[in-house]
Amino acid sequence: MIKTKLLSIEDLDKIEIQDQLKQAINQNKLVIFPTETVYGIGGNALNECSAKAIYEAKGRPQDNPLIVHIHDEKEVAKYALSISEKAKRLMTHFWPGPLTLIFQKKDIVPKQTTGGLETVAIRLPSNPVAQKLLNIVGTPLAAPSANLSGKPSSTMFKHVKDDFYGKVDFIIDGGKSTIGLESTVLDVTKDVFVLLRPGSITKKAIEDVLNEPIIDQSGERNTEKVMSPGMKYTHYKPKGNVILLSGTIEHIKNYLESSQTIDSKTALICATNYQAMFSFMNVFPLGNLENMDLIASNLFSSLREMDEKEMEQIYIIELPKEDIGYAIMNRVLKAAGYQTLKL
Ligand code: TXA
Ligand code: MG
Repeated sequence: MIKTKLLSIEDLDKIEIQDQLKQAINQNKLVIFPTETVYGIGGNALNECSAKAIYEAKGRPQDNPLIVHIHDEKEVAKYALSISEKAKRLMTHFWPGPLTLIFQKKDIVPKQTTGGLETVAIRLPSNPVAQKLLNIVGTPLAAPSANLSGKPSSTMFKHVKDDFYGKVDFIIDGGKSTIGLESTVLDVTKDVFVLLRPGSITKKAIEDVLNEPIIDQSGERNTEKVMSPGMKYTHYKPKGNVILLSGTIEHIKNYLESSQTIDSKTALICATNYQAMFSFMNVFPLGNLENMDLIASNLFSSLREMDEKEMEQIYIIELPKEDIGYAIMNRVLKAAGYQTLKL
């Protein structure tokens, strides 16, 4: 058991805390910090021992590569073999922000950080606390989402404390993550860029900047073919059985109303717009359909709440797949293990 120190944002201004953080990262210890997407569990990206510590703390398979977080665009050249003009355009437009780019890696990045791959994922987060921490420690941080492997990512201080108290040296409280879904992951090593994980920066937004189409492989489920190893593992799954319901809202209502198995351990996760229609069961509203960003930011919390309330059967009503809805539904489908009931 490690003695975990809990820090507030203000603590980062104290010299003695800054020294402790720098020392911890130098000694391959772990620091959990907020980003605009989800909380990250960070260690020195340039030291293989840190990567090992991260995999161990998360219980994560070692072939699932980590994202390297940097605090200045110029740093990319230190870790990437080459940066195309097109990739530069994306960096200029979307960084700092929730876009992760995959480059061919230089030797300085250990294979333990990249899960044995010859490529490295790099992201420049916009969250000021993340930026401040990166500045303080002075080294890039390898940081996957701060959740035990398989669990929903953490979007609140409470989530990271639940998963990692006693397992890391520091946890920084940055409040609720503003976006709440992990970054968009884009492979820029090919002539035509490939979307590996959808996020709040959409395929269309990327294509608009590039002025050319990209390939979408984010829905790829065949494990032989997956290019982003993270995509082949079970993700975001509460303990209960999750089923995605698709179809008209009337059909969904008829189905649930006539179901004999709904009890106090059955949950329905849906847009707040439908809450009143399903008053005969436990409803966990995500936010209004008119505010899909809010729905995105509440999704992982809601999935975690299923475990806290020990829900055994969890229904989720399909959400519109436009814009950020595409990334939301990508996570929902994984949480459901792709179990869908078409009504
Ligand atoms: O928003 C985020 O990206 C958060 C915050 C903390 O920055 N981080 C995050 O990390 O979501 P993680 O490890 O949970 O997800 C990283 C994803 C995984 O699906 C992984 O397989 C993929 O990025 N990835 C990382 N390096 C890769 C590489 N070299 N090639 C292909 N995919 C890669
Ligand atoms: Mg993750």
